[in-house]
Amino acid sequence: MTRRSVVRGAGHRLPERVVENAEFSATLDTSDAWITSRSGIERRHFAAEGECTSDLALAAARAALADAGMAPDDLDAVIVATSTPDFTFPAVATMVQAGLGMTRGFAFDMQAVCAGFVFALANADALIRGGAADRVMVIGAETFSRIMDWTDRSTCVLFGDGAGALILEAIDSADRAPRGVLATDLHSDGRQGGILHVDGGVSSTQTAGHLRMQGKEVFRHAVEKLAATATAVLRTSGVAPEELDWLVPHQANLRIITGTAAKLGLPMERVVVTVQDHGNTSAASIPLALSVAHADGRLKPGDLVLTEAIGGGLAWGSVLLRW
Ligand code: UT7
Repeated sequence: MTRRSVVRGAGHRLPERVVENAEFSATLDTSDAWITSRSGIERRHFAAEGECTSDLALAAARAALADAGMAPDDLDAVIVATSTPDFTFPAVATMVQAGLGMTRGFAFDMQAVCAGFVFALANADALIRGGAADRVMVIGAETFSRIMDWTDRSTCVLFGDGAGALILEAIDSADRAPRGVLATDLHSDGRQGGILHVDGGVSSTQTAGHLRMQGKEVFRHAVEKLAATATAVLRTSGVAPEELDWLVPHQANLRIITGTAAKLGLPMERVVVTVQDHGNTSAASIPLALSVAHADGRLKPGDLVLTEAIGGGLAWGSVLLRW
């Protein structure tokens, strides 16, 4: 028997306000045609004034609990992947714990920027396999609109706000084609920290700062590293790319998504793409895409799903799971 982490429920929350590409042309030298052709993004959601990362995370968590048919105190742990917490501390995860009315368990945030959800999923799986928890809520939640420089057309048109959540539960399985997390692959290279960073922070400037990105450089790393991590996780688990039912990639740029799918030999019909509607929501992008595809019936129990992401750090990785 092998102890594994199986997905029991999913949920998401997007802020109500939708901003179409055309809105940016009023204040910036940009166009819908440029944004769509270079990134695939058509619109994104921005949080309302006073609407914080923890509000989005809590709503996504409630939706995941309802989907799983579980109560808050069924959970042993809450992990929130975010780079845009409400406060320096307490953690967003403990705010979610309190918001759900949990009276037990533990909660903490993880920060691996756009790869945050992949890192959180791998850590939740490790907690479950190691016996520290039986049920873990894993959330990706961001309000990147709060760290945009609205005069920088090369970044502010790309990002959006939102949250997605999955609930993982331990099972003991002797199955040859088991459900749940099958393999994980994590990497980072701190030498590349400068190409995608925020130019402020508590200890350095005592400000939140603004996102700065050398887009072309990040693009170059993304195409190469995402294909490598996806290939590694498939090789570890002895799965051929053509056996995958779904690729659910980080949603940063449609050209990166199609490039990675092409390298794996996967047709775009088997790729979940939400970047046109959500923009880049950093750590929230994968759980948002998973929850959307679960809700619309594309993801079915038993489907083989590969998720992969790269972002600031640089940090990147992938998780292979059977839904
Ligand atoms: O989630 C974390 C990981 N992040 C990513 O994966 C993002 C990776 N990078 C990218 O997605 C792409 O590099 C971008 C979408 C950011 C940019 O696309 P690009 O094809 O690499 O364009 P570029 O940065 O090389 O810029 C091309 C031109 C430049 O003008 P010049 O120098 O050729 O005259 C830019 O100034 O496009 C200009 N430009 C814009 N023009 C209109 C940059 N932003 C805009 C804009 N509207 N919003």
